[in-house]
Amino acid sequence: MPLSRLDGIKLPASADFHVHLRDGDMMQLVTPTIREGGVNTVFVMPNLVPPVTTVSRALEYKSQLEAIEPRVNYLMSLYLHESITPEVIIAAKKAGITGVKSYPAGVTTNSSSGVIDYAAFYPVFAEMERQDMILNLHGECPSSGDITVMSAEERFLPTLLSLHTQFPNLRIILEHLTTAAAISAVQKCGPKVAATITAHHLSIIVDNWAGDPFCFCKPVAKTVEDRDALLRAATSGDPKFFFGSDSAPHPSASKRGGDKIAAGIFTQKYATQLVLDAVEQACANGVLQEEKITVDVLEGFLGKFGRAFYGLEQETKEFVTLRKTGEKIEEILKSEKTDVVPFRKGQTTWSLSWA
Ligand code: DOR
Ligand code: ZN
Repeated sequence: MPLSRLDGIKLPASADFHVHLRDGDMMQLVTPTIREGGVNTVFVMPNLVPPVTTVSRALEYKSQLEAIEPRVNYLMSLYLHESITPEVIIAAKKAGITGVKSYPAGVTTNSSSGVIDYAAFYPVFAEMERQDMILNLHGECPSSGDITVMSAEERFLPTLLSLHTQFPNLRIILEHLTTAAAISAVQKCGPKVAATITAHHLSIIVDNWAGDPFCFCKPVAKTVEDRDALLRAATSGDPKFFFGSDSAPHPSASKRGGDKIAAGIFTQKYATQLVLDAVEQACANGVLQEEKITVDVLEGFLGKFGRAFYGLEQETKEFVTLRKTGEKIEEILKSEKTDVVPFRKGQTTWSLSWA
């Protein structure tokens, strides 16, 4: 069986550089699942309602998360917004905030306060470059004219290249890549530009979300060629590509009912396991060669490369062990107040234990 030689593999705790932990009831439900996914370090997205646009709110949010699960290192971000000035950036850096996330206005969940004109933020980017803060980009153009959800990421790539040219020393992460074109663009940039890849985009394509709300997220999964390019990048050993789950929980009612389906796929509880599943499936399909999937390759993608890009210490104390025991993904996670349906519910995945 493909990858069965990795049964029992021990890896340093994963780092997940793109998570949505929400607030209120959903935060209480999903934050305790971070470690179940083998993760001890997360980069937390700021798209709450209202968005996290002040240093004090980011620090308060961090304390709320620490109160729920103190054994996780939470790296915090601000939401790029007209109230973010160079002075806010200086204060954010002093307060230990790691990055600033930019959402193009209106492209996805809670992005209505997002960016319309990047040039308006050049003074902010210049200060971020001086302070060595990270700019995290949701890289999609809003649908309009001939731009659709299928072309939205590719059409954003000139903006990435232009930002990198204007601010060559600014660390930029193009979040949740979904296309072969985005991989090439990131490869062409200098070492200050990197990218995250999710577990779900390593496994699904457009057909999966057309008709299934639990596979619908932004950016949407694209073609087989795109997915296979993502699989190759994630297992290439190139440190520009590392893991960010983009786990984005929504209550099941906002996935199943109402006029609009919420964008977002919940993967947090099985973060590391789902990456192994996707890689295993790709080996079985002949997209990846099993012998190239080494411990180094997995360790690089799941933590080492991202920790290096973010300037964190490498993980030497906490490890996880992955086994094939036929574990089933839960159908639904519930509290008294809310619920969320995991990606690939009911299907088999790897079992993970801390060791
Ligand atoms: O599908 C998505 N869901 N994409 C995003 O960019 C945001 C996320 C969310 O917050 O639900
Ligand atoms: Zn996200």
